[in-house]
Amino acid sequence: MRRGSILQLVGLGVLFGGAATLVAVLIPWLPPVASKQRDRIDFVFWFTTGICIAVFALVAAVIAYSLIKFRVRPDDDSDGPPIHGHTGVEIVWTAVPAILVTAISIVSSIALVKNDDAGKDPMNVAVTARQFSWSFTYPGEDDLTSAQLRLPLGKTVKLHLRALDVIHSFWVPEFGQKQDAVPGQDTSLVITPTKLGTYPVICTELCGLGHALMRTSAIVMKPAAFQAWVREQKNAASGPPGQAGQAVFTSNGCASCHTLKAANATGTTGPDLDKLPAYAKQAGKPLEDFVKESIVDPNAYVQPGFPKNVMPPFSTLPADQLDALVTYLIDSSKRGGQ
Ligand code: CUA
Repeated sequence: MRRGSILQLVGLGVLFGGAATLVAVLIPWLPPVASKQRDRIDFVFWFTTGICIAVFALVAAVIAYSLIKFRVRPDDDSDGPPIHGHTGVEIVWTAVPAILVTAISIVSSIALVKNDDAGKDPMNVAVTARQFSWSFTYPGEDDLTSAQLRLPLGKTVKLHLRALDVIHSFWVPEFGQKQDAVPGQDTSLVITPTKLGTYPVICTELCGLGHALMRTSAIVMKPAAFQAWVREQKNAASGPPGQAGQAVFTSNGCASCHTLKAANATGTTGPDLDKLPAYAKQAGKPLEDFVKESIVDPNAYVQPGFPKNVMPPFSTLPADQLDALVTYLIDSSKRGGQ
């Protein structure tokens, strides 16, 4: 090959490689990074993307060069020269991709193993997925339960996922990992938050009618603020019955679907809880039994005008929390209904 041709090829390669690099770098393809695990995943991503850009530049340059250089001239009816392969080139284009793919798999394996390592002393959080809500329980904090995932900055957390009904999948884009929650199986996910903020928790496995609404927040807090929140929640749970009931109402996400004046809740997916006494009358059941049944087994009676199978059964709620919630709902609805 002449020197001029090589220069032309290199020029085309730089052109295509530069264009692809600009597309990769200038457009914000990925959400902001908020965990150590996401950092490692992004490293694998950019490592692979770099290789892809190099391969693309090479292939595009050769194609463009050939199209320009070897295109058929007018009145040229002759056949091309008979070519029968080239062993050297074939060895190169087999060996180089094999090396690249092996390199990617080694880098990915290291990232995967590191991302699965929770270290010596992780904070454990039990994640419960059900149609169509999340709840988070902190076994190290007297089973404190919350509808949002609150995490202290910089602390490695091991999430233990379980599903009560169908397969769901836990995903916080900023944390960078997805993990299925499968009925009858224990799955886990390690997160080390590196950035304060509020991020969406998304269910990323089609799980039924309410799949798209199965969302909550992951809130990364300063460690001191996290401890203050834990104390506050514990005090609320052990405080007077009304306060404990309201804490259960809030931490289980009831407000996202229901209206209840006492809790400033304005959801409209499910029945208006300020009307519980009237609903119980319609159902022909004593108020307390009716409220309890509607929490534990919501499909036993569904208020006309509202869809069936939307509210998840809260049958795993501890007895004291259930009682506090029932008392709170009855008191509030009696006041709210007036
Ligand atoms: Cu749960 Cu989709």
